[in-house]
Amino acid sequence: MSNLPLAKTPPMGWNSWNTFGWNINEELIRGIADKFVELGLKDAGYEYVVIDDCWSEKERDENGRLVPDRNKFPNGIKPVADYVHSKGLKFGIYSCAGTHTCAGYPGSFEHEFVDAQTFAEWGVDYLKYDYCYRPIHAPGENLYKRMGMALRNCGRDIVFSACNWGNDDVWRWIRESGAQLYRSTGDIQDNWQSIKNIVVSQIDRECYGGTYCWNDMDMLTVGMHGKGDNTEVLGGEGKLAGCSDIQYKTHFALWAMMNSPLMIGCDIRKASSEALKILSNKEIIEINQDIEGRGPYCIKQWNNPDHVFSLIKPLSGGDYAIGMFNLSDSASEMSLQFFDIGLPTASGYGLSFHECHSGEDEGVFTERRAVRLEPHDCYVYRCKLVKVK
Ligand code: GLA
Repeated sequence: MSNLPLAKTPPMGWNSWNTFGWNINEELIRGIADKFVELGLKDAGYEYVVIDDCWSEKERDENGRLVPDRNKFPNGIKPVADYVHSKGLKFGIYSCAGTHTCAGYPGSFEHEFVDAQTFAEWGVDYLKYDYCYRPIHAPGENLYKRMGMALRNCGRDIVFSACNWGNDDVWRWIRESGAQLYRSTGDIQDNWQSIKNIVVSQIDRECYGGTYCWNDMDMLTVGMHGKGDNTEVLGGEGKLAGCSDIQYKTHFALWAMMNSPLMIGCDIRKASSEALKILSNKEIIEINQDIEGRGPYCIKQWNNPDHVFSLIKPLSGGDYAIGMFNLSDSASEMSLQFFDIGLPTASGYGLSFHECHSGEDEGVFTERRAVRLEPHDCYVYRCKLVKVK
């Protein structure tokens, strides 16, 4: 165990749930690890390959230990973790604070310490910990503290990814549990409405996330294009309608600007080049991974405050990331007054604007920046203060 704090910056990786649901196996996970390297995702910073729900047998063994599904993982979990490690990546798995996982497999309630031990023996580096089938009289806060303590003492560095969907005012108590990230919303769906709902619900909550304990807005749907295979588990036709590339671009930019972990949810083995371009955008990832881990604040557009806004995130070294977003269904002009971000005209400074998708330097602006945004589109700028007079 390293003694180093984990998750200094938002964790980045891939999770099986969004696309595969229950339909997971050893071959898939090995294939994903291979692709991480081949597609340059590892070089872009993605690190954790995480198996979600449905990996175990329905019953524990005679010693109360979890048993990997004999068909999906015939060699157990350890060789899969070893393979992922052999690629220079990290390996994650899933359990639940309740008696059962959301899909009905054994949960870790009253088995926290033995499960943490098992995970450590298998070489697990990341545990997603869900909230289904929680005994009604067992306070969630205490259940996350239990697993937090078990993980912190299991002899291995394991990132603790809490997933209680924002229930019970989780942001008030989760940092003390030792969790490095916590889900703040219900499950994302591969459609624009779902992405928009999550964002709107988390604006103004930026102060609750930060270094070593990040607000997790759920796995990315970028590149899924309606191809998720978990409809049975999620039980809803039409929920997985997919998004346009512009919507995926904006989805990724929002997660990055809002300091969410970046966990890919599409089948990267089949992802389009546009999806991979979005997911690999170095300059956007740099904003998300900025070492100071400061959340953005929001400046809302006066005539459509809920759906047209700028996010401003101070970066280490003096730069500012400025994202301008139009979540509405019609094109919109928007104007960011520099007064609102603490830059008075009398200072004699302006801001240089570098757009992180086009890679273009758009010049130095004073007083304000006005742009026109197509529906659901965004600009993400890296800005520097420049003396103008
Ligand atoms: C919950 C979680 C999802 C996923 C499923 C698995 O719904 O929020 O992210 O882990 O359970 O059953």
